[in-house]
Amino acid sequence: MPPPEEAELLRRVERVRAMGRMPRHVAIIMDGNGRWAQRRGWPRVAGHRAGVESVRVIVRFAGDIGLEVLTLYAFSTENWRRPPAEVRALMGLLVEHIRRDLDELDRNGVQIRVIGDPEGLPPTPRREVLRAVETTRSNGRMILVLALNYGARWELARAARRLAAKAARGEIDPQAIDEAMLAAHLQTADLPDPDLVIRPSGEWRISNFLLWQIAYSELWFTPIAWPDFRPVHLVEAIEAYAHRERRFGGLGPGAGRPGGAMAPGEAPGSSPPGPPRLRPPADAGQGAGGTDGGREDPAGCGPADAPGRLLGRGGADPRAAPPQAVSPGGDTGGWPWADGAPGDGAGTGAGRGATRAPATTGGGQPPAAPGGGRRPGGEAGTEGRC
Ligand code: FPP
Repeated sequence: MPPPEEAELLRRVERVRAMGRMPRHVAIIMDGNGRWAQRRGWPRVAGHRAGVESVRVIVRFAGDIGLEVLTLYAFSTENWRRPPAEVRALMGLLVEHIRRDLDELDRNGVQIRVIGDPEGLPPTPRREVLRAVETTRSNGRMILVLALNYGARWELARAARRLAAKAARGEIDPQAIDEAMLAAHLQTADLPDPDLVIRPSGEWRISNFLLWQIAYSELWFTPIAWPDFRPVHLVEAIEAYAHRERRFGGLGPGAGRPGGAMAPGEAPGSSPPGPPRLRPPADAGQGAGGTDGGREDPAGCGPADAPGRLLGRGGADPRAAPPQAVSPGGDTGGWPWADGAPGDGAGTGAGRGATRAPATTGGGQPPAAPGGGRRPGGEAGTEGRC
């Protein structure tokens, strides 16, 4: 039994689901860690450590409410500009998080994917991230996408390189390159676009995050700093999303009808027109995130349209249909971030033109957060994430 406050949050989400307006994919720009710590007179790294606790709580809750995809912006291609000690600490926290939580995430059916370029990461975080992706690749209860050494402009440039290489090899006609083909060459090719993007900490920017994919996403900003971000805030965002009218450039569901009435079953908060981008596991195939459908699902995971529990909340979830991959491009050739199929000679290049990661480090223990106290309530800030 969840505690009463959580039960109430789950009921609120169920009301949204009953309206048919549950987002499938929520993406979060985790921001405000540094300021959160500095306001307490603590080192910035203490804020990042507290931010990892928010990651754990929110991932668990996202699983509880049956979210299909949760994307977290953990480290951008621009974040290398931070002081080396802070970068090292962030990488250390990432490693620590994977080592501490991977088993539980795996047991609970979470499939971890990475977008961005791990080639630019120091060896230990790179190895741990690859291990997390490999370990969880056939899980299907929820997809957790970590944006690491990620930049949307990098991702778009990578897609352009891949398309150009195919055109040069005569595999595609340049005239045939359309939006669908480009989308199929992004690292998110087999995922639904984010329905909802959340940015905490009082900043109103996108910071080079999923620029293509969020063309029609709903945006939700809050002054709450990421270390204070809790399920209640996610529920507030989801409720706000549920009351938005998504028109995708059209006139909206009621347009043209007397009184603007919606047709039965129409849900303004639902996904855009177009073919479904997920399919049930029986038909699962190779996906950009590394789902190859070839491994048994030891967790017996199930469909993502009903809530379940994650992270030490009672073991594997019995739900069935993973939001499995339809891979329109079908050419990721292994790791989702590979710049080309194995053997095609293309290298990875995130961070090209940006400061690269230090050649060593990773895996070291970051400074511990003093105390661990949280302050309820919002905190507006002035500095940017990137
Ligand atoms: C932005 O806060 C946050 C980051 C750049 C890093 C987010 C990383 C974590 C929460 C930890 C590692 C991630 C995982 C998935 C374990 P900021 O430092 O820019 O805050 P500020 O704007 O207040 O300076």
